[in-house]
Amino acid sequence: MILVTGGAGFIGANFVLDWLRDGDEPVVNVDKLTYAGNAETLAPLANDSRHIFARVDICDRAALDTLFATHRPRAVLHFAAESHVDRSISGPGEFVQTNVVGTFTMLEAARAYWNGLAGGEKEAFRFLHVSTDEVFGSLEATDPAFNERTPYAPNSPYSASKAASDHLVRAYFHTYGLPVLTTNCSNNYGPYQFPEKLIPLTIINALAGKALPVYGDGKNVRDWLYVGDHCAAIRTVLQKGALGETYNIGGWNEKANIDVVHTLCATLDELRPSSSGAPYAKQIEFVKDRPGHDRRYAIDATRIERELGWRPAETFETGMRKTVRWYLENSEWIAGVTSGNYRHWMETHYAGQA
Ligand code: NAD
Ligand code: TYD
Repeated sequence: MILVTGGAGFIGANFVLDWLRDGDEPVVNVDKLTYAGNAETLAPLANDSRHIFARVDICDRAALDTLFATHRPRAVLHFAAESHVDRSISGPGEFVQTNVVGTFTMLEAARAYWNGLAGGEKEAFRFLHVSTDEVFGSLEATDPAFNERTPYAPNSPYSASKAASDHLVRAYFHTYGLPVLTTNCSNNYGPYQFPEKLIPLTIINALAGKALPVYGDGKNVRDWLYVGDHCAAIRTVLQKGALGETYNIGGWNEKANIDVVHTLCATLDELRPSSSGAPYAKQIEFVKDRPGHDRRYAIDATRIERELGWRPAETFETGMRKTVRWYLENSEWIAGVTSGNYRHWMETHYAGQA
């Protein structure tokens, strides 16, 4: 049995679905179901006895203790977090609560459980913490990419809260010997991503005939990785990673935002031309920049390839095409997540920004 936190969110749900597609080891899925968690994504597992869903807040120590005692996991995969930079700017409190206090609570519950294990079970236990490249701060155009020795320099409340959680995970290894692993990954894209993030937002707005908002000059650069590749990398680190170490995960795909949006528009022009026949790129609008917007992220993923043998399987072109197709074929899932809370965010965050 493995214990996954945040398994109703974008990456966690992809991880759980892939895990149960490829094997039979059961999963206890711990998720509070915030606005970003979506039970609909897990519907294919509704009658699957290998999947146990627990609606629990990772800040609730008593509930976590019960879950550990009941299910006796051999590993924890910790995905749960508040993950959207723009929301961390308008409301940072939740980020400190879930990402810092929540990770601390997970570490404490895992430590107590692990202390009670013996022999082989204790030796085999792992706590894998899923983190981001944003903890390293912002790069200039000619700087080398982030590697595992790059100093932390987080700039947003989101990245600062993730950096704090990474430090706690590190400290639990050095102080208590808890067998931890940390991964720092670049921007993910793919099926089931909540459409507040750039790629699904662009696809959904394009199809709805709405503006495609690009912050600032559109030249901010991100490295993009297909979510299935991220999940495969996490499985590799869980299996072969060295205790207490961190692994950078990336797609070797640095792109300026405006180029990402143009690629999406061109793919949609081909797969689902607009009813007017106008190219979707006509809907692009440059809007007010995000405060403190990091200019460039880039990942040097040499270590995980050299030491653990992982490399992404998808190119940017194949991953983007799969992703656009998925959103075109899953309009019911989109309708389910783009109601209520989502509409409110879109109306308030983008109001008067053009
Ligand atoms: P997401 O926002 O889509 O999902 C987060 C999930 O965590 C949701 O299901 C939510 O309900 C759950 N959650 C939030 N607060 C919780 C709490 N207090 N208790 C229990 N569950 C709670 O996020 P994501 O994009 O899937 O990211 C998953 C992890 O990967 C995060 O730790 C994030 O920092 C990291 N990460 C994300 C990216 C990316 O591009 N999305 C890149 C690198 C790393
Ligand atoms: P996002 O998907 O929010 O991820 P992150 O901020 O964690 O990298 O944004 C990716 C990039 O796209 C980032 O540079 C901000 C930019 N962006 C826009 O230009 N317009 C938008 O509407 C959004 C949501 C993001």
